[in-house]
Amino acid sequence: FRLLRWTWRLTWLGGLGMTGALAYSIYSLRHPEEQLESDPTKKTLVILGTGWGAVSLLKKLDTENYNVVVISPRNYFLFTPLLPSCTTGLIEHRSIMEPIRNILRHKKATVKFYEAEATKIDYEKRVVHISDDSEIKGDMAHNEVPFDMLVVGVGAENATFGIPGVREHSCFLKEVGDAQKIRTRIMDCVETAMFKDQTPDEVKRLLHMVVVGGGPTGVEFAGELQDFFNDDLKKWIPEIKDNFHVTLVEALPNVLPMFSKQLIDYTESTFKEEEITIRAKTMVKNVTDKYIEAEVTNPDGSKALEKIPYGLLVWATGNAVRGVVRDLMNQLPAQKTSRRGLAVNEYLVVNGTENVWAVGDCAVTNYAPTAQVAGQEGAFLARLFNTMAKTDTIEKELHKLSSAQAAAKTDDERNAVFDEIRELQKQLRRTKQIGPFQYSHQGSLAYIGKERAVADISWLSGNIASGGTMTYLFWRSAYLSMCFSSRNRVLVAVDWIKARLFGRDVSRE
Ligand code: FAD
Ligand code: NAI
Repeated sequence: FRLLRWTWRLTWLGGLGMTGALAYSIYSLRHPEEQLESDPTKKTLVILGTGWGAVSLLKKLDTENYNVVVISPRNYFLFTPLLPSCTTGLIEHRSIMEPIRNILRHKKATVKFYEAEATKIDYEKRVVHISDDSEIKGDMAHNEVPFDMLVVGVGAENATFGIPGVREHSCFLKEVGDAQKIRTRIMDCVETAMFKDQTPDEVKRLLHMVVVGGGPTGVEFAGELQDFFNDDLKKWIPEIKDNFHVTLVEALPNVLPMFSKQLIDYTESTFKEEEITIRAKTMVKNVTDKYIEAEVTNPDGSKALEKIPYGLLVWATGNAVRGVVRDLMNQLPAQKTSRRGLAVNEYLVVNGTENVWAVGDCAVTNYAPTAQVAGQEGAFLARLFNTMAKTDTIEKELHKLSSAQAAAKTDDERNAVFDEIRELQKQLRRTKQIGPFQYSHQGSLAYIGKERAVADISWLSGNIASGGTMTYLFWRSAYLSMCFSSRNRVLVAVDWIKARLFGRDVSRE
C-alpha cells in the first residue's frame, strides 16, 4: 500500500510538473520580453528562407551580434513531416505552421522580416533583389537588400524532369497549398464519380488515385489516402467501395530505396494487405488530363508503353534546383560542375564565395536532402556565427589591451594588463576551436498506413530496423515532440483525437 501511495503521489507530482511546464511555455509564448533595437552599424546578415535550415539557424543565433534580415515568401515555418496527414484532413494545416513573427519576436534583438521572394543574388555587388509576390502590393514591390553575410536556405522545387503535362495536370506535395489542393481534389473526384448516370468506366477513372514516386513522400501519402478511404470515405459513401483504388508508380525496382531491404519488404507487404498497388519499374513519360503514359519494364526485360487512367494524380519524384540558386551558380566558376545545388565546403561556405553559406535542400553535401540534415546545418551555422561574433569582440578587446600595455607606466600596471591579455588569448583559442560541420544521423522514419510505420534508427554504434504498430506509436511520439512549439504539439494532438472520435471531414471546401 505504501508503494502504491508513493507511486500515486509521484504520478501526481509528475503530472503537475508537466502541466506547469506547459503553462509556462504558453505564457512566455504570449508574453515576449522587450527586444533590443537592431544595430545597423553591425554586419548585416541576410537569411533567405523560413524552412528547416533557416529557422533552426534563427532559433540558436544570438541576434544582438548582427543586423539580421530574413527574407522569404512564406511568413511561417512548416513542419513538413506531418504534411501528408493534411491532405486527408487528419491534421489541419494550421496545426503544423508556426508564424515566423512569433519566432522572431522571441529573439533578444530585433530581426527584420520581408515577406518577399529573392529573385536574384548579385554576388559581385553583394545585394539580394527581392520582389513582393503576394496578392496585395504596395507602391514598392521590388527592392534590393545589401548584405555583408548571406545564408541561402531557399530549399528546392519539385522535380518534373521536363516530362510534358506534369505541371498542368498533377498536384505536388511540398507546401500547405499543395496539401489543401489535394484534399479538395480527392473529394471532387469522389463527388464527380457519384454524379447522376456517370458511366462505369468514368467512375473507375475518377476513383483511381495515382501517386508517382515511391520515395518517402509518395509512400506516406499513399498510406494516408488509403487510411482515409478505409476509416471514413467508404463508411460515408459505400457506393465507391468497389472502385476506389490507390496506385503507387515507381521507376526503380522497389519503393523507399533509402531504407533497409527488410523494411522495403515490410512496406510492400503492408501495401498489399491495404490493397495499394505498387507499379515498380514503371517510368512515367507523359501526362495528359485523364491518363499517364508510362514505360513498363516486363520481367523478361522487354519494355512496353502503357496508358494508366487517373482521377487524382500526385507527383512526388524528388527535388530540383530553384531558379535563384541556379542563377547564383552561373555567376560562380567554382560551381560549374555542380548539378544538384550549391556546392559547399565543410563549413557550409558556398564554393567560390566569401561570406555566403548555404543550408538544407539547396546545398549539395554528402547527405540526403532531409529536414534532419537541414536542421543540423542551421544549428551549426548559428554556433559558427555566435563564435565569430565572440572572436571579433575578444580581438577588439585584445587590441585595446595591447595599447594599454604599451602606455603602462609601472611594472605592476604592465603585469596586470599582461595577465588580462593571457586570459583573453586563452579564451580566443578556445572559441576558435569550432570544427567543421558533422552530421549525426538519428535514423529514418516513415508512415506507411494502417497505423504502421517503418524506422531505421541509429542506436549506439549500430542500426535498428523496425516496422509495425509499436514503430507507429514511436513515429507519432517522435514527431509530436519534434513539432516547433507547444502550440503546435497541442493542436496536432487535438487533431488526432478529433479524427479518432469524429472521423475526418469529408466536405469539400
Ligand atoms: P524548406 O524547408 O523547403 O524551406 C525553404 C524556404 O525557403 C521556405 O520558407 C520557402 O518559402 C523559402 N523560399 C523559397 N524560395 C525562396 C526565394 N526565392 N527567396 C526566399 N525564400 C525562398 N525530412 C525529414 O528529415 N523527415 C521527414 O519526415 C520529412 N518529411 C517530409 C514530408 C514531405 C511531404 C516533404 C515535402 C518533405 C519531407 N522531408 C522530411 C524533407 C524536408 O522537408 C526537407 O528536406 C526540408 O524542408 C529542407 O529544409 P530547407 O530549409 O532546405 O527547405
Ligand atoms: P525521392 O527523391 O526520395 O523519391 C522520388 C522517387 O521518384 C524515386 O524513387 C524515383 O525513382 C521516382 N521517380 C522519379 N521519376 C519518376 C518517373 N518519371 N516515374 C516514376 N517514378 C519516378 O523524393 P521524395 O519522396 O519527394 O523525397 C525528397 C526528399 O525528402 C528525400 O531526401 C527524402 O528522404 C526526404 N523525405 C523524407 C521523409 C521521411 O524521412 N519520412 C518524408 C518525405 C521526404
